[in-house]
Amino acid sequence: MNLDEKSSLAGIKLRHFKKVVRFYDTIEPINSELVYNLCCGNALASWYILNANEKIKFISVDKIKTEKYRRLESLMEDSLKERHLFLEQDIGMHLEGFVISIHPCGNLADRIILACIEQGVSFAIVPCCYKPGRQLLKPKNYIRPLGLDRIEIVDDMRIKYLRENKRDVVVKRIENFPSPMNKLIMSHI
Ligand SMILES: C[S@@+](CC[C@H](N)C(=O)[O-])C[C@H]1O[C@@H](n2cnc3c(N)ncnc32)[C@H](O)[C@@H]1O
Repeated sequence: MNLDEKSSLAGIKLRHFKKVVRFYDTIEPINSELVYNLCCGNALASWYILNANEKIKFISVDKIKTEKYRRLESLMEDSLKERHLFLEQDIGMHLEGFVISIHPCGNLADRIILACIEQGVSFAIVPCCYKPGRQLLKPKNYIRPLGLDRIEIVDDMRIKYLRENKRDVVVKRIENFPSPMNKLIMSHI
C-alpha cells in the first residue's frame, strides 16, 4: 500500500497529503540526517520524507498525539518506524540538524524561528494564522513598508529579524499548495 493510501486509511484528507508533497518538492534536498518536524500534527510530512530518504531520521513534535497519528503510525513499516521518534510535548526544546514546520499557528512560527536562530539550526517553515499583535520577532528600528497588509508585515518583520541576526532567508510561494497559507520561509546555516 502506498503512503497516500495509508494516509487515507488513517482518516487523513487528501489535501493534507498534497500539502506534504508540494512542501517537500519545494524544499528538497534536505542536507541533514536528522530532521525535527515541529507542530507536526499527524506527522504525515515526517513519514513522507522518511519514505523518500533512507538516511534521514525524524523527531516529530506536537503537544497532542492524535488518534489519526496513532492510526497512521500503526500502518508504517518497521524500517520507517526505526528512524522515527514522536515526542508529545511543547516545541521549546534542544534542536539540531534541520527543522521543518507546516502551519505552526500564530506566534509558534516566531518561536520556531527564534529557536533556530538561537541554536544555529537550518529550517523551512510555512506559517499560518496571523493573529494581530501577537508577533514576537521585532527587528530594531523597524519601519513598516507602505502598501503591505497585516499578514505581509508580520512576515516582513520575521524576514528582517532573520537578516538582522545574520541569517540568509529564502521566501517563496509553494505552487499548487492546497491552502492559501502557502508562503515558505527557509534559512540555511
Ligand atoms: C495547524 S496544526 C498543523 C499540523 C500539521 N503540521 C499540518 O500541517 O497539518 C498546528 C499544530 O500545532 C500543535 N501545537 C500547538 N501548540 C503547540 C505547542 N506549544 N507545542 C507543540 N505543538 C503545538 C497543535 O497540536 C497542532 O497539531
